Amino acid sequence: MSIRFDSEGKIFVIETANTEYAMKIEHDRFLTHLFYGKKGSEYPGKARYRSFSPYYQDIGEGFSLTDDYNEFAMFGSGDFRCTALKLRNSNGNCCTCFYYDSHEIITGREAIKGIPCARAQEGTETLVIHMVDNLTGCKLNLFYTVFPKHDIISRYFTLENNGTESVKIEKAMSICLDLPHHDFDMISLYGAHMEERNVQRTPVMIGNQRIMSRRGASSHQFNPFMALVSKNANETEGDVYAFNFVFSGNFLDEVEVDPNGATRVLIGLGEENFGYKLEAGESFSSPEAIMTYSADGLGRMSRNMHKFVRDAIVPRDPFKQRPVVLNTWEACYFDIDEKVLIDFGNEAIKYGMDMVVMDDGWFGKRLNDRAGLGDWYANPDRFPNGLADFVDRVKKSGIKFGIWIEPEMINPDSDLYRAHPDWCISCEGRERSLSRSQLLLDFANPEVVEYLKQSFKKTFDGVAIDYIKWDFNRHISEPGSPYLPADRQDEAIFRFYLGVYDLFNWFMETYPDVMIENCSGGGGRYDLAMMAVSTQIWTSDNTAARHRVHIQYGSLLAYPSYVMSCHVSNPMVLDDYMNLLDYKFKIAIAGMLGYELHILKMQDDVKNEIKKQIEFYRSVEQLIKYGDLYRLVSPFENKKGISSYYYVSTEESGEGYADRILLTHLQNEGARGENIVYNFKISEADSNATYKDSLTGKEYTGKQLNEGIEYVVSDKDMYGELWLFERV
Ligand code: GLA
Repeated sequence: MSIRFDSEGKIFVIETANTEYAMKIEHDRFLTHLFYGKKGSEYPGKARYRSFSPYYQDIGEGFSLTDDYNEFAMFGSGDFRCTALKLRNSNGNCCTCFYYDSHEIITGREAIKGIPCARAQEGTETLVIHMVDNLTGCKLNLFYTVFPKHDIISRYFTLENNGTESVKIEKAMSICLDLPHHDFDMISLYGAHMEERNVQRTPVMIGNQRIMSRRGASSHQFNPFMALVSKNANETEGDVYAFNFVFSGNFLDEVEVDPNGATRVLIGLGEENFGYKLEAGESFSSPEAIMTYSADGLGRMSRNMHKFVRDAIVPRDPFKQRPVVLNTWEACYFDIDEKVLIDFGNEAIKYGMDMVVMDDGWFGKRLNDRAGLGDWYANPDRFPNGLADFVDRVKKSGIKFGIWIEPEMINPDSDLYRAHPDWCISCEGRERSLSRSQLLLDFANPEVVEYLKQSFKKTFDGVAIDYIKWDFNRHISEPGSPYLPADRQDEAIFRFYLGVYDLFNWFMETYPDVMIENCSGGGGRYDLAMMAVSTQIWTSDNTAARHRVHIQYGSLLAYPSYVMSCHVSNPMVLDDYMNLLDYKFKIAIAGMLGYELHILKMQDDVKNEIKKQIEFYRSVEQLIKYGDLYRLVSPFENKKGISSYYYVSTEESGEGYADRILLTHLQNEGARGENIVYNFKISEADSNATYKDSLTGKEYTGKQLNEGIEYVVSDKDMYGELWLFERV
């Protein structure tokens, strides 16, 4: 049992393998927070009661929500810190007040209506705490789901309006966590298109600080992942509390340290970009947020997250091995040509690739990025005998076939727009601003989603597609829905995502053998909800080695190699070509390998080299995909873009723990005369074993590896090295 209730002390305890979470019902109605952290720790004392704190007349001074640690802080309740729920009632005020009513503990978990969530794992239980508000007649249900083996606890809430009047949710946060101290650093991931997921570490200050997206997508700019870490935290030591949100739209990660020195963390939909009206009889479910705690630094935190994403988030892997794809985008752009693609397939398979992916440009009048989105039929000029016939011809060689789509989008220059100009996300009376010449379809309107299902069905049924690359190439301005009434306009983006997930689910059900790769101008929706409806995500449109080192390192902080799609693209430099090809490959095999180059223009020696790369990748694929990641050098902590890490085999990778270890060292810039020496400590090597580096033949004892291999950084720029230690 991972969840206990002590009915005498009125204390709930949720346990995972290494962590413990506790809360208490006070005065029969308030839910206060006691502890989250290392299992078996003593709980800290309560916050000191201070003056200027509103108290309840029946309880008297000495207890107030103002300074206490609260499980789900509510607006206007006398808790003056940032709050998790703000509800406007029919009287017009937002005083939000729910009292504990009852609770239940269920085995496993319930799905969340319309929104992806984690799947129950071995030992999963859910604590549901029911709270009521007598004034509005609303019922608030707090869900705590535990994933004991993963050291993960998730939270979300549902709100049922059982009253007679409508209410409006004006702020909705899924996690509300009070920690009794404040000496944290915050780690977050920021970026831009082509520069995703830079790691930022800043001291948490007294006051309020926020990371959020207002872009209608989880975005390249800020990722929903966030961690609070003790000042001494590094890869192997220190306290780390990490959070993430299972949603792809706007989000808010809010941290507030009060002047008493307590820290509140809120993760959820936020308030600025969200509102939701609940008529009498209606209910609302928030997305789920997750948290983990590691007493052993950042490395353990990442491994908790990685395993959780693999086991409980990513839905399925239709193929035994991830296909090594050859994507046409950087080779052909919009010049889609049947013959060239068939030749691509015939050539790709000779060199060990598994799939050719036809990117943008195959449909409607899509000859450039200004037209065609929304018209999901194969361009008859480009495919005179139809798509099915073309795909069959590509696949004759035995290669698999993938295709690009961007369902949420529409170009004003499209048949669909001409027929349904009212089907776009827009605000009445305002200009519809363009981005990449496109608008967004109003997925809050079920008719639009239904139309797309029929349209894709017509185009794809009977076509032997193995893979879909699902793109999303603009953010949401003028965030309104012509379909929704005036008093529901604040719901437009939230409901847009219900439509998006509906379409993803439809694809997965209709084409169960098709793998979905997610993309949003690269990694613009690199979030847990997208991971729950696809197998992997295109990490970034930027395939330049210099940037990839950072983008991938940042991505791996919160998300596993298992979802990280990494392509080797054409090294544009002629004089150092083979070295760069090698460097790009060594970078790419931190994740799932693919290629993005014009294979018909490659010379034989290059293609033979690629063949060797793929053979090597196949020999370590399971180790990379399911192995545990240990980071040694962060490219964000040196100026040369030096990054070193290793994957160690686990049972899931089909081997014994630490039977094989793949160590990677990458350097964008060489030593250039400096004396830079690292000691790569392979802590996970079995100290009783002997290992052989299968790339050099050199033997090491496990103890030697534990103590570290000395590595002197060479003068070479754009240079990588690999070691594959195998137990003898
Ligand atoms: C986005 C994707 C690219 C490519 C183009 C096609 O930018 O990230 O990989 O598919 O769209 O328009």
